[in-house]
Amino acid sequence: SGIIKVGLLGCGTVGTGVIKVLAENAEEITPKVGAQIIISRVLVRDAQKKRDLPQSISVTDNIEDILNDPEIKIVIELLGGIHPAREYMLRAMQSGKNVVTANKDVVAQFGKDMFAAAEASDVDFMFEASVGGGIPIITPLKQCLTANKLTEVIGIVNGTTNYMLTKMSEEGASYDEVLKAAQEKGYAEADPTADVGGLDAARKTAILASIAFNSRVGLDKVHVEGITKITPEDIAYAKELGYTIKLLSISRDDEKGIDVRVHPALLPQSHPLAAVRNEFNAIFVKGNAVGETMFYGRGAGQLPTASAVIADVVDVARDIVKDRFGRIRCTCYEHKNFCPIEQ
Ligand code: NDP
Ligand code: HSE
Repeated sequence: SGIIKVGLLGCGTVGTGVIKVLAENAEEITPKVGAQIIISRVLVRDAQKKRDLPQSISVTDNIEDILNDPEIKIVIELLGGIHPAREYMLRAMQSGKNVVTANKDVVAQFGKDMFAAAEASDVDFMFEASVGGGIPIITPLKQCLTANKLTEVIGIVNGTTNYMLTKMSEEGASYDEVLKAAQEKGYAEADPTADVGGLDAARKTAILASIAFNSRVGLDKVHVEGITKITPEDIAYAKELGYTIKLLSISRDDEKGIDVRVHPALLPQSHPLAAVRNEFNAIFVKGNAVGETMFYGRGAGQLPTASAVIADVVDVARDIVKDRFGRIRCTCYEHKNFCPIEQ
């Protein structure tokens, strides 16, 4: 039939966004896939909690309900953290299900196992949303810029800390106050220590450098310093001198080898990265053919992240449709006479 069923692991900030965007933009998405993408089951920790979800979605706290459902072809993992997310994704792939995730913890530390599992089971493992929230960056690095030798990937890759630094600088807000606001807006991780300590940015840096430089850049290779020691006085002093403090992710590949680091830096206010405010991220990528490119957009938050997750789901779903029905001849879902899905 013209339906592709999806199991969603996690229904917090991003999971809820995925359900919302898939429902609201169904008319936009369905013709592009050639089939309807339907979330049929959702895994949560607390299945009794009242949630505003469509009746058609079955809520469970038992992963087996999703892994044992043969109709589910794609699993979206939005639980966060390593355990049990990693095991669930591996088991999903071993059961022949494609996996889409926003989980940078797992990709940065266990990417190799995940790719091996995907290859062994001949399924897809996709992770566009793991870096840069709604900004397309993984696919451009893997595909669009593949003709280049990439030498530099530099930018702001954590929305929480950029939001905090912006508010501290522009509104004189206190560290605790702005961290709380970032949590309420859904930008921060469940445990925000990784955001403020720079580990979230380090995970993203390891992922970006690995793809850009076609090497395995482990998390242990990334020098990490977060923003926990930045005081309102530091920010005010920098401002007085014409500088802005930003948490930067820096990856370079030159004759000395690969250098990867995350740390706060003083940028002149005229620097393009100084103008990146609030939860926005920006990533500069330098290649020997293309020169310099810049990717900019919302690096955290419910709908932007859902946008990236669904892009991966659509990619996988298109492959499923193609395998099942051959090349899609009709991109108009309403045009049932010609749509291969409806025949
Ligand atoms: P939330 O903490 O808001 O949501 C987590 C969801 O997972 C909740 O529904 C929770 O259930 C469920 N869950 C957690 N642990 C378990 C478990 N052991 N068993 C079953 N269900 C579980 O996280 P986010 O939506 O913010 O983030 C999800 C992922 O997306 C993370 O990997 C994060 O790093 C990544 N991400 C987040 C972005 C953002 O802006 N928030 C941006 C880019 C990536 P319950 O509802 O019952 O508590
Ligand atoms: N906590 C992360 C951030 C979410 O603030 O950037 C997006 O990966």
